Amino acid sequence: MNIGKLINLKVIGDQRGNLISLESNKNIPFAINRVYYIFDNLPNVERGFHAHISLKQVAICMSGSCTFLLDNGLDKETIVLNDRTKGLLIEGLVWREMKDFSKDAVLVVLASDFYDESDYIRDYSEFKKRVNS
Ligand code: TYD
Repeated sequence: MNIGKLINLKVIGDQRGNLISLESNKNIPFAINRVYYIFDNLPNVERGFHAHISLKQVAICMSGSCTFLLDNGLDKETIVLNDRTKGLLIEGLVWREMKDFSKDAVLVVLASDFYDESDYIRDYSEFKKRVNS
């Protein structure tokens, strides 16, 4: 079962190199309200450890690599992101953890909404309770 969905981003290439365009409600399946990126990663750092109530996100590893662990409360999935032509769509109630960031990893995240701490579930037992309710 796929918890996260990999989106193949169309590469527009010519003799000068490559270009990818990200558009709200087109190749990105929601209106993009926020973009943030994670970089300058220190060794063995793990991030995330939360779920979102309603936020949708697409994560693209623009350089280097990192690993996502996704958990919908029933199944778990590990996805390595190391290809800037693929976006990982995470929507619905999904616990996510990120690890194995290469030093040069630049992880760009497109989000459907502004930063709002009240949309976060940061406690795993609360996440499990919500999944089961
Ligand atoms: P955090 O949720 O710990 O990041 P991650 O999920 O990658 O482990 O966020 C780190 C800090 O940054 C925290 O204080 C919240 C803040 N933050 C914002 O202010 N805006 C944002 O868009 C995000 C994602 C985080």
